[in-house]
Amino acid sequence: MRFTRQASAALVALLTLPACSQSGDAAAGPAHPDTSGKGTPVAASGADAGAPGIGDSDFPLDGNGGYDVGHYGVTIGYTPSTKHLDGVTTIDATATQRLSRFNLDLSGLEVSEATVDGAKAGFSREGDELTVTPPTPLADGARFTVKITYAGQPKPVKDPSNLGTYGFIPTTDGAFVASEPAGSKTWFPNNDHPADKATFDFQITVPQGLTALANGELTGKKAAPGGRTTFTWRETHPMATYLATATLGKFDLRQGKTAGGIPNLAAVDPAYRNALGKLYRVSGEVTDYWSKLFGPYPFSSTGGVVDNYSAGYALENQTKPMYGGFDPDTSIIAHELAHQWFGDSVSIKRWKDLWLNEGFATYAEWLWSEHTGGATADTMFRRQYAVKNDPVWKYPPGRAKPDDLFNQSVYRRGAMTLQAVRRAVGDQTFFTLLRTWVADHKYGNATTPEFIALAEKLSGKQLDSLFDSWLFQPSRPES
Ligand code: TRP
Ligand code: ZN
Repeated sequence: MRFTRQASAALVALLTLPACSQSGDAAAGPAHPDTSGKGTPVAASGADAGAPGIGDSDFPLDGNGGYDVGHYGVTIGYTPSTKHLDGVTTIDATATQRLSRFNLDLSGLEVSEATVDGAKAGFSREGDELTVTPPTPLADGARFTVKITYAGQPKPVKDPSNLGTYGFIPTTDGAFVASEPAGSKTWFPNNDHPADKATFDFQITVPQGLTALANGELTGKKAAPGGRTTFTWRETHPMATYLATATLGKFDLRQGKTAGGIPNLAAVDPAYRNALGKLYRVSGEVTDYWSKLFGPYPFSSTGGVVDNYSAGYALENQTKPMYGGFDPDTSIIAHELAHQWFGDSVSIKRWKDLWLNEGFATYAEWLWSEHTGGATADTMFRRQYAVKNDPVWKYPPGRAKPDDLFNQSVYRRGAMTLQAVRRAVGDQTFFTLLRTWVADHKYGNATTPEFIALAEKLSGKQLDSLFDSWLFQPSRPES
């Protein structure tokens, strides 16, 4: 969602086809091209085609060009015994150029139908690109709704570098859904890049006895045909697609409010029953403390989910950080909840700036330690800085590498960068900088040069050589 201009009502009316076109066969006519997945070029001219990538040069096919998504409606039914998913995703978007056709990201799964503003649209597949051809080109600025009906077994992403497996991962009782960086396209079609944030509605149908957990607030739970239950969730704040979850299975829940009054929901797989109380309590304490330090909590609720998938890692899913197969300690809870401000509310615009997420969340672990009477952030900094042969000195964290995005340098040297800034500008300016950063880019996107500019503005200091040596040089900074 990038809040661009709106189409006039007349334009929208012109582009909305009569209902009769809905009955058209997807195979009929040139606007209804091949659906075999072979990627036969569609009939529309290439001139007004939306780009197959959003413009992140490190990931040329992630996201798409030509439109901005405002809202996703993700409706899925999932059967753990067969690992089969049925989905209908409705996307409300605004064209940012004239569009004869446009792309969505979708990996695997079989598409049975595409409509644009209710009229049957053509579609084709090539790799992870789903190209949709509306019956009539969309005007620049037009608001439109695309609906994709699909089904299949989501295929988890096996990351060859340093992430392990992520995406929609089957568990013994359901699924663990953690999609950073580009796994959400394995379970619903979308504009899969953090530069295009949008609000979400989820409608998730599961066998009776299971619970489905998605972002935001539970808005309904009702019986569905076939002895199933439908859970509806709503995330009303803009969210990056990689933060979407639809984690489902058996869960024990604990619900209430933090001492500061923020709704809090903790959920654990029954195998982690003993972790529930601590997860609930610590998540509440951390959320309240970060709200004081970083500024008001940006979302409608906090909490956490522990599932029985042994990922060994956690993900900061918006409003519902998820811990994969372990009882999380306070430090990792502090990390994932700091991401609600750094990463989830203020999101990156390009993956190379990932230190803005991971460096900040790691620094927050140090701040939690400092807050609770453990080692100070400066002590943590000194300990790590003392290790002269640490591989992080060879990896400049300010430019996360596409084939090694989540390198330790992005986390630890990123955090050290913030301590170096704190030393240079002093505590008062430093914490003002964090709060101003969060306030200035709330619910939006930001880049490293913008952070550097803000640090210089608030401190009145020339900080380019500090940032250059900490973020961009393949060597250990002087101090
Ligand atoms: N962002 C996570 C963190 O807090 C790490 C991570 C990246 C991750 N991709 C993931 C975790 C996928 C689970 C699944 O550091
Ligand atoms: Zn993190």
